[in-house]
Amino acid sequence: MKADSLAPAPPKGARADWTIDQGWQDYTAEDHQVWLTLYERQAALLPGRACDPFLKGLEALDLHGLGIPDFAKLNRKLGALTGWSVVAVPGLVPDEVFFDHLAHRRFPAGCFIRKADQLDYLQEPDVFHDVFGHVPMLTDPVFADYMQAYGEGGLRAMKLGRLHNLARLYWYTVEFGLLETPQGLRIYGAGIVSSRGESVFSLEDPSPNRLGFDLIRVMRTPYRIDDYQQVYFVLPFLQRLLDDTLQDFGPVYAKLAQTTDIPIEAITAADKIFTRGTQAYARSDGLKQSS
Ligand code: PHE
Ligand code: FE
Repeated sequence: MKADSLAPAPPKGARADWTIDQGWQDYTAEDHQVWLTLYERQAALLPGRACDPFLKGLEALDLHGLGIPDFAKLNRKLGALTGWSVVAVPGLVPDEVFFDHLAHRRFPAGCFIRKADQLDYLQEPDVFHDVFGHVPMLTDPVFADYMQAYGEGGLRAMKLGRLHNLARLYWYTVEFGLLETPQGLRIYGAGIVSSRGESVFSLEDPSPNRLGFDLIRVMRTPYRIDDYQQVYFVLPFLQRLLDDTLQDFGPVYAKLAQTTDIPIEAITAADKIFTRGTQAYARSDGLKQSS
């Protein structure tokens, strides 16, 4: 971490870069069972829904195993494939700490696992979201480079006061991105593949808009963290992420400073429309209604 950074100090027991030991031997049988239950549910849903790089990554990393993966073993496979590693952190970490890890090809993962009565929706990422959701895509060379570049870009966006815009890019790609394939739309976003409900909703529900990915458009669109998304952005192919983001964002941020946000459910004349959503789910109060 940089000496001039104003990041809060790490919690007690964590290292200066906020990492901790995973403590794999301390997981209980019940913890491993939660992983296995979540794993089985997603493994049944994702063929034909998740994109090939995700499914291949899942296979290559052998993530079902005996329950919650041991990061040390996982890192031997992941490191050999793309030079990425997973590091354990206590929970959410400050932005600059997060970006610095990404810029060095380290993915910070929470190591706690949700309880058996919280299988369906969590706002704080646990090890299932972080590892099952995020790590398979890090086996893809293009996506692996994108994530590293994003970390570097994050540090820069903070200095330029544009983090709110860059965070939307992460949200609508890394967390909730869809990919166009000859077989139809497929999921690559970690927030979707780690959620049973959203794995179906994002592709099949008539409610959300599904729009073509456009860098500036995405960075003008707010997002919600409390329920399924109202809009998903569709990439024509993964390389497009790198092609669009390797450019200097200085002029991009300057342009953004001249624009206003686009309301979350809006469709603009410039949008490529895959689905014009009904927004019925969002108007029905969504998850709040069922709880
Ligand atoms: N190219 C961006 C910049 O100049 C950095 C970046 C790369 C941001 C990849 C997001 C993703 O700031
Ligand atoms: Fe995530």
